[in-house]
Amino acid sequence: MSHVRRWLPDSWNPLYSLGAASFYLFWIVAASGLYLFVFFETSIDGAYLSVEHITHEQYYIGLVMRGLHRYASVMMAVTVTVHLIRELVLGRFTGPRWFSWVSGVPLLWLLFASAIGGYWLVWDERAQYVALVTARLFDALPIVVEPMAFGFIDNATVSDRFFTLLIFLHVGIPLSLLLGMFIHIKRINNASIFPPRQYAAWLLACLIVVSLAVPATSLGPADLDAPLRQVEIDWFYMNFYPLIDQLGPTPVWLALLGVTGVLMALPLMVRPKKMPIAAVDPDFCNGCGWCFADCPYEAIYMKPHDYKPNHEQAVVIADSCVGCGICAGACPSATPFKSFNQANSGIDLIGTKNVDLLSMVREDLGAREKKGRILVVGCHHGVDLTRLEEADTTTMTLECIGQLPPSYMDFLCRRESLDAVLLTGCSEGNCFYRLGIDLQEQRLLRLREPHVKFSDVKEKIERLWVGKGGEEALREAIEQIREELRSEMA
Ligand code: HEM
Repeated sequence: MSHVRRWLPDSWNPLYSLGAASFYLFWIVAASGLYLFVFFETSIDGAYLSVEHITHEQYYIGLVMRGLHRYASVMMAVTVTVHLIRELVLGRFTGPRWFSWVSGVPLLWLLFASAIGGYWLVWDERAQYVALVTARLFDALPIVVEPMAFGFIDNATVSDRFFTLLIFLHVGIPLSLLLGMFIHIKRINNASIFPPRQYAAWLLACLIVVSLAVPATSLGPADLDAPLRQVEIDWFYMNFYPLIDQLGPTPVWLALLGVTGVLMALPLMVRPKKMPIAAVDPDFCNGCGWCFADCPYEAIYMKPHDYKPNHEQAVVIADSCVGCGICAGACPSATPFKSFNQANSGIDLIGTKNVDLLSMVREDLGAREKKGRILVVGCHHGVDLTRLEEADTTTMTLECIGQLPPSYMDFLCRRESLDAVLLTGCSEGNCFYRLGIDLQEQRLLRLREPHVKFSDVKEKIERLWVGKGGEEALREAIEQIREELRSEMA
């Protein structure tokens, strides 16, 4: 694992930005599509010839644009499918995440329909295959008045009007896809819709190279008067087309609708793990709105305070709360420097209050060595920290690293003579609760409230975002901290 990290930084890991990459690929497809649209002719005779002209007569520009349009679409099929599988495997489809999951499923239909429509427009032999097989699929539906296949009996039955309809669909469906993509991330605060810049540049460069090396070309022109010969299909988008030929349209419809139904019903079928959710204590909520700004799932809103005039108060939407505790880490009232009511914070997780975890750490520190004390703070989605405990090292495991109020680090270093803090958790760019690592980083760098107050404390904090497989790296980091502390004390 650590070997992989050495040549592939976590922020470059394509698995960590699948949703963002899908958005990015969409924009590449849209921009290249716009270019093709300018030169495309919407007529039976013009469609094929205009695409040939774009491909072969435009000094590589058209060739690259066509390649980008095709290969970015193919990559999008890959990123979206892997994104779905990853969310499924990580169990991120239950509870409040049901909305992102359920709104993602129709995007698959829109994506496939957009791509298949694109292959159709070219009006080559592959388009002819798509036309005939799609007509067979749709004609099996009981709602069809005039069979679609009547439009493709021979060359005389295809009209220019049909191409106008096709282009209308090939613009309209992707626009619906875009709308659906924004609905999909509606309940996600600060959704990442652009991959890291270097990764984006690398992806674009690869697509351009592939477009030049393996040009996206047409097959021979469609000819409905001649029997269709065997054609090469795009296995990413037309993988189920041979089944329509082999099994007939009805089993394929049943399979497509069945898979869609199961995917849609999945959040209902799997009972979510019971998580503690956040609750507001109006007595200690000062209406700052920092929890509202940090909540990764838009589960908090602000309203006029119940009884403090001219103040606001946070409110938790229980159905949207995933129980990450990031709000508790953002609450300025969580500071343990208060002389009274130390136990109270404006917002905290019911059941696993931050202040109880702090008491446990303080108690534990009392039983450890007095010098060279190290605290390792991590989350339930990273390394099992209890395995790292030693005479000088204590640990604190939170639901998410964003749950840690920065004032705790100030307090423990100043009041409990803690010598070093090591923050860890998920790997970089892969926080289970999306924003925990980024927010905690910003709090440490004083780019975001609440932040670490004392400069000497800031110097004592190290971070290592290594995820579940990072035990060895953590041990190495702790050993290094130990050595530094020893040489400072010597
Ligand atoms: C065009 C297709 C899609 C695009 C562009 C897309 C994009 C995104 C983006 C940008 C995010 C937010 C990532 C973040 O900031 O952490 C996201 C989250 C999510 N997506 Fe998709 N997605 C697509 C399809 C799907 C599909 C097909 C599914 C599953 C059926 C799905 C399930 C989810 C889930 C469950 C989340 C929430 C993850 C979490 O709560 O941490 N998406 N998607």
